[in-house]
Formats: sequence, C-alpha cells, structure tokens
Amino acid sequence: MRLKDQVALVTGGSRGIGRAIVKAMAAEGAKVAFVFRGSQAAAESLVQEVQSNGGVIKACQCDVTKADDVQQVVDGIEKEWGQVNILVNNAGVIHDDLFVRLDPENWSKVIQTNLGGTYNFCRAVAYSMMKQRKGRIINVSSVAAEHVNPGQTNYAASKGAINSFTRALAVELASRGVTVNAIAPGFIETDMSEAVRNKAGDLIKKMIPMRRLGQPDDIAKVAVFLASDAAGYMTGQVLTVDGGLSLGAAAV
Ligand SMILES: NC(=O)c1ccc[n+]([C@@H]2O[C@H](COP(=O)([O-])OP(=O)(O)OC[C@H]3O[C@@H](n4cnc5c(N)ncnc54)[C@H](OP(=O)(O)O)[C@@H]3O)[C@@H](O)[C@H]2O)c1
Repeated sequence: MRLKDQVALVTGGSRGIGRAIVKAMAAEGAKVAFVFRGSQAAAESLVQEVQSNGGVIKACQCDVTKADDVQQVVDGIEKEWGQVNILVNNAGVIHDDLFVRLDPENWSKVIQTNLGGTYNFCRAVAYSMMKQRKGRIINVSSVAAEHVNPGQTNYAASKGAINSFTRALAVELASRGVTVNAIAPGFIETDMSEAVRNKAGDLIKKMIPMRRLGQPDDIAKVAVFLASDAAGYMTGQVLTVDGGLSLGAAAV
C-alpha cells in the first residue's frame, strides 16, 4: 500500500476524474476526504463503495470558491484525522463560448472555481504542510492550457494559470519538504467532456495517437504516483496524460 496512513483531500471527488482519484488513494491505504458541490447521491454512493472495500472516507459538501467554507472543511478533517498530507485540487468547470459572447458571469465562474478553488485549498493546507516538513499538492490542469481550443478563453486562462501557480508554489515550498505538481489530462471520458465527445464523435479518437479516450483511472494512477514516495524528488512539473494528443499529429 503506497499511501498507508496518509491523509488525502481531493476536491471534486463525487464524479469523473476526482472520483477515480478518491478510490485509487483509498485503495492505497490513505484516509480520503473529498469535496463535492451538489451531487449528494453520487457522494453517498462513493462513500458506500469505498467503505465496503475497507477504505476510510469522508464526504464534505463545500463550494471551492468560498474561502471560509474551505478553511472550515480543512479544519474539520485535521481535527478528526490529523494534518492533510496530500491535497488534490481537481474540482473544475467549463462554460465554453466564443469570446465575443462570453459573459462576465461565465468568465468568473471558471476562473473562480478552477484557479480560485486551487488557491483556496492550497492556502488552507500550505502552512501546516510546511510546519510538518511533508506534503504533496497535485493540481489538475488540462492540455487545453497549452493546446488551446476556440470557445475556451476562460478555461485555457484558468488552466494556464494553474500551471504557472504550480511552478511558483513549488519553488516556495520545496525546501520545506512539500512538492507541488500538476497533471494535464487530455480527453477523458467524464460528464465534463460529454458535450464535446457527442459533437466531435470519432474524430477525437483519430486525433489521439493511442486511439482511445482516456479513462478517469488513467489520471488517478498518475495522481497516486505523484503522491507516493516514488515521486519524492519531483516538484514544479506538469505531467501530460493524454494518449499522445498534444503531440499534434495529423488525424488519420
Ligand atoms: N474530462 C476531461 O476531458 C478533462 C480534461 C482535462 C482536464 N480536466 C480537468 O479535470 C478535472 C475534473 O474534471 P472531470 O472531467 O472529472 O469533471 P466532472 O465529471 O464534471 O466533475 C467535476 C467535479 O468537480 C466538482 N465541482 C465543480 N465545481 C465545484 C465547486 N464550485 N465546488 C466544489 N466542487 C465542485 C463537481 O462536484 P458536483 O458533482 O457536486 O457537481 C464534480 O465532483 C477538472 O479540473 C477538469 O478541468 C478534465
């Protein structure tokens, strides 16, 4: 068990990539708390699934954009289980629209959730990780930060900022034994990518050299690696996990 006795906190754990990360970290022996916004039924089913496999898990309803609520969640976990050793900032949203039609509300929602939520949780755990001289922060970015798509100025800006934030925070925390890395997934089969998948159909697979969409588990395995001892000397890195999509090969 690679994460035995660690305390992990995963945002956006109720569905998709976050849900797979919660299950993978619990299976590796971590106590896992996860944050969700509104999917109560999905959160409850995840708790039951992990517990029935002998895992230790806790669901926390919290909007990642609300700094005071985030602090309360972290305080609650630390009171019950001790200090958070692993933080995965995974909660994210898309609200795609061409820039000239993009309203301020959908600009803010994406920036506040993806980037603001990451800031809020890092702020709530960084000091105690530094004091403990131990910690892993894993931010979920996207290939869309570097390989941009029309209609995603808000999303690309949020994920590009997460990459820069990851590197800058890594430099500040490195001497205190805390690593900060990011994962940039390609097309992963989740609710978030459903609309694009429906629209693009088989073209997506043709753009991916490995000829398949990613599964949430493909990302979860890399998150476990980054949280494990094996990644102890890595910090400030953005790992692309996309089946080769970002290599930019022509669709065949
Ligand atoms: N899917 C892809 O192809 C892909 C590609 C690249 C990067 N990513 C990134 O991977 C991460 C996960 O994406 P996904 O595809 O798994 O998305 P998803 O299936 O839509 O799940 C999103 C998760 O984030 C939570 N969430 C959203 N806003 C929140 C808020 N304000 N407060 C708390 N929780 C919130 C949701 O909670 P509720 O269930 O309660 O709504 C849900 O658990 C995101 O950061 C996304 O940008 C995804």
